[in-house]
Amino acid sequence: MSGEEYHVPVLAVEVSELFVSGGGGVYVDGTLGGCGHFRAIAERAAALAAERSSGVGPAPVVMIGIDRDGEAIERARRSSFDGIGARVIIEQARFSEFDAVLGKHSIEKVRGLFVDLGVSSRQIDEPGRGFMYMKDAPLDMRMDRGGGVTAAEFLERCEEEELTDVLKNYGEVRNAPRLAGAIKAYMRGNKMETSADLKNCVAKEYGGRFDIKLLAKLFQALRIRVNGELAELRTFLDKSVTCLAEGGRVAVISYHSLEDRMVKDFFREAEAACVCDHSQPVCTCGKHIVLRRVNRKAIMASDEEIKRNSRSRSARLRVAERVFAPLLIRKRTL
Ligand SMILES: C[S@@+](CC[C@H](N)C(=O)[O-])C[C@H]1O[C@@H](n2cnc3c(N)ncnc32)[C@H](O)[C@@H]1O
Repeated sequence: MSGEEYHVPVLAVEVSELFVSGGGGVYVDGTLGGCGHFRAIAERAAALAAERSSGVGPAPVVMIGIDRDGEAIERARRSSFDGIGARVIIEQARFSEFDAVLGKHSIEKVRGLFVDLGVSSRQIDEPGRGFMYMKDAPLDMRMDRGGGVTAAEFLERCEEEELTDVLKNYGEVRNAPRLAGAIKAYMRGNKMETSADLKNCVAKEYGGRFDIKLLAKLFQALRIRVNGELAELRTFLDKSVTCLAEGGRVAVISYHSLEDRMVKDFFREAEAACVCDHSQPVCTCGKHIVLRRVNRKAIMASDEEIKRNSRSRSARLRVAERVFAPLLIRKRTL
């Protein structure tokens, strides 16, 4: 990736092939970032619409790009989408609120819902945002700097037990109580305002030659907590079923085992039919299949892509399609 590039999209070919099932319709990219996936999805949808075009011409494609980061939105608004083959709508919002964005534009059902979780390379590289330990910056870590609690504020306010849970669950930090205890103890005598402060604290506890991966885990855990990333994903998945048109698809690229597990379990559950006892002639649980998994195993980046873009190493893509199955009515068995 050159220094000029905002973000290189991962699994872009796989996303456009597996996620774009039809041609015309409304597609939502909930994590617009540098618009890489957005453009790839639009181009594929427009090409399919043209291929399947009837006498009245191709069905129109509408692309809605959402990001909670005001800077990503501003940059997207300044970009040209000429020749993309779609009508483009850009909105600053959280992707858990995509249904409100649809409401604002009087759209009820969509053909596709896509999110590529986490932060962009630009957010990581930008000095002053505090996402990374490599550069000294204020411990902010908010994707949307318009509100919410910064990482420094979170560290100030949280109890040691909460910090332990965050490190353990979101960072998979081994011996999380030790690190949480060390951070809270350090903060009793020192300021904790910048990434350098946090790094000093870790070095003090573990000595100068600690594993750098520990810092990566610590920073990831704080970022996930500060941005409420798991709750965002849960709400997005729950709402997806209601807003997808029949045959429409939902796709998620995750970079963390907790997120991937959430998507996997959600899709598996949505694919399961009635759970009533088999002796019941008619289903009373009301549960029926709402999604069909397009890929059973998560799609991962090829060795070649990993070589080109190391960020793709941990990416997992899962796609599911909306189906409308009738309620189950069994014949009475005597
Ligand atoms: C991995 S980058 C996406 C890159 C993008 N797919 C591309 O091709 O450039 C993630 C982006 O999603 C945004 N984001 C993360 N969580 C979000 C959320 N809950 N709601 C809206 N945007 C979010 C971040 O601000 C960031 O710009």
